[in-house]
Amino acid sequence: MGSERLKTPEESDNPPEQKSALTNLWRMKKYLHPYRYRLALLWSMVLLNIVSGLAIPPLVGRAIDGPIAHRDIPGLWAIVGVIAVLGAADALLNLVRRYFQTTTAMAIEADIRGALYEHLQVLHTGFHDRWQTGQLLARVTSDLGMVRRFFAGGLVFAITSVGMIAIIMGQLLFIEWRLALIVLATAVPLLLIGRKFFREYLPAARSEQDQSGEVSSAAEESALGIRAIKALGRGPLMAARFEKEAEELRSRSIFKSMIASRSWSGYDAIATAGVGGVLVLGSTMVAGGSLSVGDLTAFIMLQLALLWPIEASGWVMAHGNEAMTAADRVYDVFDTEPAIKDRPNAKVIDRSEVRGELVFEDVRFAFEDDSREILAGVDLRVKPGETVAIAGKTGSGKTTLVSLPSRLNDPTAGRILLDGTDIRDLKLENLRSVVTTAFEEATLFSMSVRENLALGRPGASEADLEEAVRVAQAEFVYDLPYGLDTRIGEQGLSLSGGQRQRLALARAVVVRPAVLVLDDPLSALDVHTEELVERALAQVLRDTTALVVVHRPSTVALADKVALLHEGRIAAFGKHSELMASSPEYVDVLSAESEEVAA
Ligand SMILES: Nc1ncnc2c1ncn2[C@@H]1O[C@H](COP(=O)(O)OP(=O)(O)OP(=O)(O)O)[C@@H](O)[C@H]1O
Ligand SMILES: [Mg+2]
Repeated sequence: MGSERLKTPEESDNPPEQKSALTNLWRMKKYLHPYRYRLALLWSMVLLNIVSGLAIPPLVGRAIDGPIAHRDIPGLWAIVGVIAVLGAADALLNLVRRYFQTTTAMAIEADIRGALYEHLQVLHTGFHDRWQTGQLLARVTSDLGMVRRFFAGGLVFAITSVGMIAIIMGQLLFIEWRLALIVLATAVPLLLIGRKFFREYLPAARSEQDQSGEVSSAAEESALGIRAIKALGRGPLMAARFEKEAEELRSRSIFKSMIASRSWSGYDAIATAGVGGVLVLGSTMVAGGSLSVGDLTAFIMLQLALLWPIEASGWVMAHGNEAMTAADRVYDVFDTEPAIKDRPNAKVIDRSEVRGELVFEDVRFAFEDDSREILAGVDLRVKPGETVAIAGKTGSGKTTLVSLPSRLNDPTAGRILLDGTDIRDLKLENLRSVVTTAFEEATLFSMSVRENLALGRPGASEADLEEAVRVAQAEFVYDLPYGLDTRIGEQGLSLSGGQRQRLALARAVVVRPAVLVLDDPLSALDVHTEELVERALAQVLRDTTALVVVHRPSTVALADKVALLHEGRIAAFGKHSELMASSPEYVDVLSAESEEVAA
């Protein structure tokens, strides 16, 4: 389909290259842009925070060597006063900064999530066939959460740590450079540990996040399929499957945490050894008179203050790593170009000018990564206002065929013309307001009946809705507890299959499209209701061009002409009675279907 082949979630199980992960996190900076002033304010507060915190140890050193050594109580009070004010300012600043930090990060997260959702909407249906819903859910929820935590915590800590380390090192060098060299020497093993950590942690984090997507998928599938699972008595089996996935997630998480804790304890050990070294050498210097007690105290206080940013940088690396892999996973989706999109010069046609002639010209279709041609040269002409039924064996490609006029899929070759214009030259939104499709599996949304009905035409009047409800024989909606305002459960589970189908049909009718495409819209109805719906539908179809997939001989009555889809082509086309006389295959398909119904 001309688009880059999609990475499947399984493939992305392979650890990505570190470089690409960093790039993807960097690409997210465009979402920070609207918040740049807030962020600038935030960074200034962070800086102030560091400076106010690090001014304290030298003041303590000064107190020891000055007022304390000389028993100057008023002088001591002065210094203590300054320290107290600094401490209070530090705490207040911290509070304000945290508030800012969290709210800003949440706003950024919400923006990215919105953009991701929007992107998911424009991706073609094939994308959703390949991606497990759970993997997408994990990206929209937990991965973005990780990115947010990084922007709120990790990034702030990273900059704070670097700033603190730089300032403290400067102070240490200023107080006593020989002792500072000991501290600097410990940086070498720290960096080595950090590098090793970076290499091991990234793949481990990615594999954990991927697995967490698997767990979401398993949970989501069992929630949606709960009826089938119970009916087949497969509860224990599904539980075992879920447990396996959950167990895998646990072991991957533990593996990841092990890597982190190993590095962190290494960090601690080295930093503590550094403090020991300074204490020994420093005491010798104090004894020899080349260093004052106050300076040694200030030095050690600062060195201890260094422990926090060093530990934090380990934590930052962990979070940064997770955010990178999360960003990578999020960009797996962002980087998928919609395979079906507007051409540069796409036109808009006015609904009132559409005559509704639909022509298939040598249309071929194969699913991505599938060599079988489901449609192998379909030629079909539906005249304006005509209703054409599509019949064919199960699996012959009927659903595939009727997904083409509204461009849910694009043909691999050949073209489809609406009033002589290639439908790919029309703006998608425009096309879909002219050509409306209702599928056999009626998907309803967890909103009110009214909202479900008006989904395709938000401006529909009460009279339009009533009319559509009547055509679809869906009057049962008025008997629901709150009438049209009753909320339907997710997937319309609180309605029967036939009720859902009639509602979906009504929804398609509300749009008053120029071309109505129905994929076996009456399959779940009893014979009596079907007849009622058909009679009402016949009125609607009178001046609408329609393509209707049929399984039962009774539904064929709706159509002016019937097309038989066989081995990827239209094998026969004509009136029902003509085909019954001339096409043994047609007779075969319809009688097989009616037997099925009878059975
Ligand atoms: N997303 C997909 N990816 C790959 N192959 C698919 C996909 N959807 C359907 N197929 C295959 O395409 C063929 C035609 O499927 P289609 O759903 O169009 O048949 P149908 O005529 O509508 O069948 P039915 O009467 O049972 O509804 C089938 O062999 C099916 O396995
Ligand atoms: Mg089908």
